[in-house]
Amino acid sequence: MTSPNSLHARDIAYHLHPQTNPMRHEAIGPVIMTRGEGVYVFDDAGKRYLDAMSGMWSASLGFSDKRLTAAATRQLEVLPYYQTFAHRSTEPASELAEALIRLAPVPMSKVLFQSSGSEANDTAIKLVWYFGHATGRPGKRKIISRNRAYHGTTIASASLTGLPHLHNYFNLPLDGFLHVTTPHYYRNGLPGESEEAFSTRLAAELEDLILHEGADTVAAFFAEPVMGTGGVVPPPATYFAKVQEVLRRHDVLFVADEVICGFGRTGNWWGSQTYDLKPDMITCAKALSASYMPISALLISERIYEAMKVLGNKVGVFGHGFTYGGHPVAAAVALETLRIYQEDRLIEHAASMGQLLQLGLQRYADHPLVGEVRGAGLMAGVELVRDKSTKAAFAADMKVPAEVQRFAQDEGLIVRALADTIVFAPPLITTEAEVGLIVERFGRALDKAEAWVDAEAQSAVTEPATL
Ligand SMILES: Cc1ncc(COP(=O)(O)O)c(C=O)c1O
Repeated sequence: MTSPNSLHARDIAYHLHPQTNPMRHEAIGPVIMTRGEGVYVFDDAGKRYLDAMSGMWSASLGFSDKRLTAAATRQLEVLPYYQTFAHRSTEPASELAEALIRLAPVPMSKVLFQSSGSEANDTAIKLVWYFGHATGRPGKRKIISRNRAYHGTTIASASLTGLPHLHNYFNLPLDGFLHVTTPHYYRNGLPGESEEAFSTRLAAELEDLILHEGADTVAAFFAEPVMGTGGVVPPPATYFAKVQEVLRRHDVLFVADEVICGFGRTGNWWGSQTYDLKPDMITCAKALSASYMPISALLISERIYEAMKVLGNKVGVFGHGFTYGGHPVAAAVALETLRIYQEDRLIEHAASMGQLLQLGLQRYADHPLVGEVRGAGLMAGVELVRDKSTKAAFAADMKVPAEVQRFAQDEGLIVRALADTIVFAPPLITTEAEVGLIVERFGRALDKAEAWVDAEAQSAVTEPATL
């Protein structure tokens, strides 16, 4: 029992947690993390966890990188804050913009900074609309994304997101935000349909929607290279090639949301490289600063910049920006993060550790609770099913994925249950031995969950029938 004065009790009393069931939080309280070391975090009882989620898909360099601490401290001592409105800049903000343009997977022209992935996607939406006006097509403003996509929780980025619990009761999505089928072959492929045929069908669905709405009303398509929060869904074979062809045909802008995939997660610098995407804009955040400081970036193409520049001049100013956009301490940390990725060859390391993780988890493909093991690089998903042959999911109220997550936590492993899938995104610095620990501990959690499911089924059978 927590004492009424404990930090746990005070957290329950005062702290409203995002993406959390508030009633359940009152019942179970928080796990309070107090320190980190490499890929491990420690709670206030001293329990050590291997964080196979990098916090929120994001702490790519783990939790104790001294170079990042030093970069932040240096900048705090020299210039702790300055802003970037009205022609002002700071050394780190200007240097980071250049570094991102040099790293970009396709030629890009300019970088605009924000503090979060949601803000980067909101900014991209606003630029899509601004571009419509700048090119004399203000009616070209509808935006298409995918069911189960995750693009953030601000009003516009949540509208892009394709998850019902981010829409229901929030009066979302806003008008003009449309969603197409999740490119998840295991769940949405038809019997007998090949992966390529599935992709053809989804590209045709996208084209039908554009034609139905009128191509002159559809402005942009947003996609994560690999869907993250939707349950780690890599694109099926030929999907993006076919989708991009449709977008080009109808002059629809393509925005790649690299908030999770950017900076090594899929085994290349960008998910766009892994899947040969040619976006007009890119949003990124998370591993940009290894999450030591909040910062996000929107990269825009020359075509978009040329158009918005003229409109901005006509208006007198580009009427958008955030107080903390390009914050110098965050930018200094991001620059140091990019240097570490390069000097320590961490993208290559992530690619080889990713192969080990995928192989290790494939070991559970035959486990009775597992329907599909999937992923790319250092992001993986294990989808749980009640019946492997029919792919039937467990009843939601059984909360089997949450139990697997809890058993993993007991084993000292942090993973995340998202709908029916357990997801993994360990830091890019994870070693071979640590990948082994992730796989082992997860296996034990799965076995415990299987025993728990069997016991639940048994007790349901032996309970006296009620009329
Ligand atoms: C793909 C993707 N886009 C956008 C976001 C939103 O980022 P933030 O939580 O920093 O607003 C997330 C967050 O997880 C994400 O996974």
